[in-house]
Amino acid sequence: MSDDSLAWLGTAPIPAAPYHDPAWFDLEREAVFRRSWLQLGHVCELPDSGSFIRREIEALNVSLLIVRGRDGEIRAFHNVCTHRGTQLVEEESGRCGTFSCPYHRWSFGTDGALLAAPDFDRFFVDKADCALPRVALDICGGLIFVHLGTPDKGLRDDLGPYATMLDGFPAAQATTFSEYVYEIDANWKLTYDNFQENYHLRFIHPRSGAPAVGEDNPFGYPVKMGFHGPHRTQTIWTNPDPAPKPVQAQSFGRAARFAMADGTAGPHSRDYLALFPNFFILGSPAQPFSHTVWPIDARRSRGVIRLYWKGKDDCASRRYAREYAMASARDIHAEDRDVIEAGQRGLNSGALKHIHFQAQEALCRHLFNAVDERVQAYRAERASATPPPVSRAEAMA
Ligand code: FES
Ligand SMILES: [Fe+2]
Repeated sequence: MSDDSLAWLGTAPIPAAPYHDPAWFDLEREAVFRRSWLQLGHVCELPDSGSFIRREIEALNVSLLIVRGRDGEIRAFHNVCTHRGTQLVEEESGRCGTFSCPYHRWSFGTDGALLAAPDFDRFFVDKADCALPRVALDICGGLIFVHLGTPDKGLRDDLGPYATMLDGFPAAQATTFSEYVYEIDANWKLTYDNFQENYHLRFIHPRSGAPAVGEDNPFGYPVKMGFHGPHRTQTIWTNPDPAPKPVQAQSFGRAARFAMADGTAGPHSRDYLALFPNFFILGSPAQPFSHTVWPIDARRSRGVIRLYWKGKDDCASRRYAREYAMASARDIHAEDRDVIEAGQRGLNSGALKHIHFQAQEALCRHLFNAVDERVQAYRAERASATPPPVSRAEAMA
């Protein structure tokens, strides 16, 4: 992609503080994470009515309960009993007809309604006003997203043309997945950016990344990039003269054949979608992988990598292809890990006031711009808001 066509993103150095400063991170929590659609799960995790998953968003101190109701609808609630706030569900996932609080046994239906509470007549409230607090939830391409604020747009509107792309990715038809979760001593943007640029491929992945670089494209730069609001996409270059190792050729070849037979090999096999703020997904049918990078604090994050599959791995050949795809995703990630953490240590020292992105690291610059725009808007909003009253007496006056 030509450098000139990316100039609209700007060329200025990028301030370093947003990659390590706790005060900036506090702003991001509210400006970005409480105000965006966040990818949290997949419909295949909730196959039946009463199926539920619990998800923690540590950076916001939020615990969510996502449930498929009797009517088949999937809903999200704060995992908080409305009596006195006790966390309702401790299991990570399961199936349940009602959710009963361990403290005083208030029990809630799969639609969040308070069904029963011991000696409820002595309370001063109606059952109807004690439903679990609901959180906006929407689904696209089989993927579950939640929004902790009041979304100004539905998910599909927010994603624009990328919603249709997501519908064509293998994850849209998945019935199961393999998962790999890691923790890393690095800011979420620094971690995420590593997967948004190819500049490092030839240095950090000389072996695993070899099929993605070649004489015509020594850094494996994408052939296309696209931008829609805070979201972005790129199309990975195809090396016309790849030299995969025999094991790679065999395993990915098998995975591709299974994907053709399953009907999950769509038109987006080289496409990569980076959905704001912290999710990306690759359309490759042989390695259909998604990655969500959750902030823990300013300098630590947690990644959730998933490979999505259709049908059971009911033969050795299919199982081998899936295991290989997962092992190679882990390998590539392990290769990246040390340099990401070394980058964070350098930034934590405060030695740099700025960092730099070149033209072909445009996806990283676009993420920074999108975050910065939201943080500045949030700051302006706070500055113009009337300060809250300081005491109850003052509030009553
Ligand atoms: S806190 Fe849940 S029933 Fe009392
Ligand atoms: Fe890498």
